[in-house]
Amino acid sequence: MIVRCAYASRAATTLTSAMVEDILERSRVNNPANGITGILCYSGDVFIQVLEGSRDEVCELYNAIVRDGRHSNVRLLVFGEIRERKFCNWTMGHVDLSKVNPGLLLKYHEKAVLNPFSMSGDATMSLLEELVATAAVHSRVP
Ligand SMILES: Cc1cc2nc3c(=O)[nH]c(=O)nc-3n(C[C@H](O)[C@H](O)[C@H](O)COP(=O)(O)O)c2cc1C
Repeated sequence: MIVRCAYASRAATTLTSAMVEDILERSRVNNPANGITGILCYSGDVFIQVLEGSRDEVCELYNAIVRDGRHSNVRLLVFGEIRERKFCNWTMGHVDLSKVNPGLLLKYHEKAVLNPFSMSGDATMSLLEELVATAAVHSRVP
């Protein structure tokens, strides 16, 4: 049985490439070994992450992530059992908001900003899928 979990959070300090690199490295090592796939997006100081995998693995990882001092204001957006994964790989992406069509942000939000804290989890998932589909999420290269 597999589940999906999505949350949003804010970086505790200005994001440095070293910080992002470390998170990416942990994810690359740990997630495949634990059968976890998903996506981690960041834009400004906002993180949005989707984790998919077995309930035990996803919950254990989520608990570890919540305790991580590099971010705060962790808000659970979505949690539920799923029939199939939406994100079958592990990716970490940077959303370059200057390249995102404002209309796409406005489709799901009052203003053309990425603010998962004032959106429903459902809307955030849809926006994330569209951002990935329109290639607005770039693989992070320092
Ligand atoms: C926004 C954010 C996302 C993270 N995502 C993951 C992740 O997907 N997988 C992971 O193993 N660690 C992730 N981490 C790091 C964990 O909080 C923790 O540092 C790591 O799991 C510890 O791994 P270790 O026990 O192998 O050192 C993330 C941290 C932050 C701040």
